[in-house]
Amino acid sequence: MKIKNICCIGAGYVGGPTMAVIAQKCPEINVTVVDINEERIKAWNDEDVENIPIYEPGLSNVVKEARDRNLFFSTDVDAAIDKADMIFISVNTPTKTYGIGKGMAADLKYIELCARQIARVSKTDKIVVEKSTLPVRTAEALKNILDNTGNGVNYQILSNPEFLAEGTAVDDLMNPDRVLIGGDIDTTEGKKAVDALVDVYAHWVPREKLLTTNVWSSELSKLTANAFLAQRVSSINAMSELCEKTGADVNEVSKAVGMDSRIGSKFLKSSVGFGGSCFQKDILNLVYISKSFGLHEVADYWEQVILMNDHQKRRFAAKIVQTLFNTVSGKKIALLGWAFKKDTNDTRESAAIYVADYLLNEQAEIVVYDPKVKTEQIYADLDYLNTRSSEENKAKVKVVNTAYESAKGAHAIAVLTEWDEFKDLDWEKIYKEMLKPAFLFDGRRLLERSTKEKIGFEFYAIGS
Ligand code: NAD
Ligand code: UGA
Repeated sequence: MKIKNICCIGAGYVGGPTMAVIAQKCPEINVTVVDINEERIKAWNDEDVENIPIYEPGLSNVVKEARDRNLFFSTDVDAAIDKADMIFISVNTPTKTYGIGKGMAADLKYIELCARQIARVSKTDKIVVEKSTLPVRTAEALKNILDNTGNGVNYQILSNPEFLAEGTAVDDLMNPDRVLIGGDIDTTEGKKAVDALVDVYAHWVPREKLLTTNVWSSELSKLTANAFLAQRVSSINAMSELCEKTGADVNEVSKAVGMDSRIGSKFLKSSVGFGGSCFQKDILNLVYISKSFGLHEVADYWEQVILMNDHQKRRFAAKIVQTLFNTVSGKKIALLGWAFKKDTNDTRESAAIYVADYLLNEQAEIVVYDPKVKTEQIYADLDYLNTRSSEENKAKVKVVNTAYESAKGAHAIAVLTEWDEFKDLDWEKIYKEMLKPAFLFDGRRLLERSTKEKIGFEFYAIGS
């Protein structure tokens, strides 16, 4: 079975880049990415390719090459479904904010809406691919809806979770460690569907990296991978606190530990806490699933990863207050970085939001500089917490265009995102702009202590 038309529902951080790369690598396949968010689609179609809605190094070039050749962005969801042989579901699966499983389970309402729409529109057989991260056994629910509300056409459900990380999405998609495809491999039809998707990826991914499994293993592997990655960050962050008490340095510990080939060196960088749209959401989902099977020890084990992360964010903010003579009331504190990591404009669950909120509760005045995050987004993130009114957030938080501007009259600076440009700032100039003593808090272990102390900063870095 050769795929000619792909539809992807959801033009977000996963749908957009993933489909752009598929379109670039498979020029004979028509790829249409659809979304109900008109503004987002308009931005994907912006004449100036630098204005696409997602900032990812290298992405604009890929879009430039494929857009309007075999890559299309549209709000006409029905038309794209109708035409497609293969439909990727790439919509958001946030943590539920209401009802059963509130604050833990994944909210699958967007997934279900997609399934119902596919069932209503489809007149020919379709392969439906779960690209979103979903609880194990979601494919069963999808199949149920499609088979029972559809027009009698045949559906094959595949699970093809995405492992890209933001900031390196294009590279991760071009050179993946593996591509995981789960399907009903015990039946001929299921096997055919799996092979069809394997053929798409085989345009650029070596066959030995295309891993096929049953659907449930694929769904659960995605949650497991994120849980393991987040667990490493929480583990090293737990050690960072112990380092601060004992005179050990977390970077040295991390290097020594990571050189053990059984442990490996990646994902052992201590920080002010992990953020991003997925780690917390996926672990909470894992905890919820475990609890729902009565596996309370399993649930508690994974929940600790989140508790440690919350502790790390709070601990960092509390350290600022404590160091500034136990009060930040009325003091200006500059935050460098708002994105949850460098090279992305995504701020979802960014540690910066929680550090700012903590300091605002302590009546600090906050000034933020981030090279890629828009001002409206910063206010929206704070408003979303509902800690204070939107007017109060606007009054207490100022967003500026340069790091130098943020330093003017500041009592302290906190580095919250590891943007490369922060390393190369003229720190002497920054020091001169600040009130004295000038405090510098490095929540990312980005800056060199000795040069900053030489300038005159009171320097604190996480884990040392
Ligand atoms: P996102 O919020 O950026 O994008 C989702 C898009 O889906 C939105 O633009 C929304 O308008 C659209 N949408 C929702 N319901 C729709 C519907 N019924 N019809 C059409 N469009 C609809 O989310 P994301 O970051 O791309 O994540 C999507 C999924 O991929 C999630 O399950 C996430 O866990 C998973 N994932 C994300 C990443 C990442 O780095 N962001 C990586 C791997 C996996
Ligand atoms: C993560 C996974 O790395 C991807 O494989 C996965 O596809 C994705 O989640 C997802 O499912 O959404 P992402 O959240 O984009 O990707 O970025 P990461 O590089 O994993 O960073 C997550 C957070 O952990 C960031 O805040 C980062 O600063 C922090 N981190 C990461 C550390 O604090 N220390 C580290 O050593 C590594």
